[in-house]
Amino acid sequence: MKLGVAVSGQGSNLRNLVARGFEVVAVVTNRPSCGGAEFARGRGLPVGDFPQKRFPSAAHRDAAMAGFLLEQGVQLLVCAGYDRVFTRPLFDTFGGRIINIHPSLLPAFAGGMDAVAQALRAGVEVSGCTVHHVIEEVDAGPIILQSPVAVLPGDTVETLHARIQAEEHRLLPRAIVLVSDAARTAVGQ
Ligand code: GRF
Repeated sequence: MKLGVAVSGQGSNLRNLVARGFEVVAVVTNRPSCGGAEFARGRGLPVGDFPQKRFPSAAHRDAAMAGFLLEQGVQLLVCAGYDRVFTRPLFDTFGGRIINIHPSLLPAFAGGMDAVAQALRAGVEVSGCTVHHVIEEVDAGPIILQSPVAVLPGDTVETLHARIQAEEHRLLPRAIVLVSDAARTAVGQ
C-alpha cells in the first residue's frame, strides 16, 4: 500500500518505515521544521506543510491535506506522532484508511499527548503501545495490534518512552502489513 505519514515530532516511526522499505509516497505535518519533516525532505519525499495558522479552521486545513494526500496517491494514512485531531474532510476522503500509533495500551491513557507520563503517575506495572484505526472520537477506533512493555523500577518518562518506542518500531510495520493484507482480501486480489 502507498503510505502517507503524518508527523509532528522527531519521526522515528517514519524513519523506521522508510528503513524497512515501506512505500512512503507523502509526508504531512503541522510543524514544518520538525525532525520527521526534515528527514522526509532530506530523502526527497513529497512533504506537505499544513500549520494551523495558515488556515481559517481545522476543517480547511484538513481539506487541503486530504487533497495533497490524494494527489500523491496515498492509500493508507499513518499517524506517527501527529499532534492534531483530524476533522470531517479527512474522514470524508480517507475514512477507514487512517491508522495511529499511541504509546499506551488503549483504552488506558487515551486522549492526551502525555500517555507515558500518565502511566507512570498511575503506577501501572505494564504499559505499552497500540495501533488502531482512527475515527472521529480521539484514540477510540478499533484496535489492530497492541504490545505490552513492562514499567521498571526507577523508570522516567524518557526511559519508559524509549522502550515503548522500540516496541512501536516492531508493532507499526506489522499493523500496516495486516491492514494491507485485509484491504487486498477485501478487493479479492
Ligand atoms: C510515539 O511514541 C507515538 O506513539 C506517539 O508519538 C510518538 C512519535 O514518535 N503518538 P516519533 O516522532 O515517531 O519518534
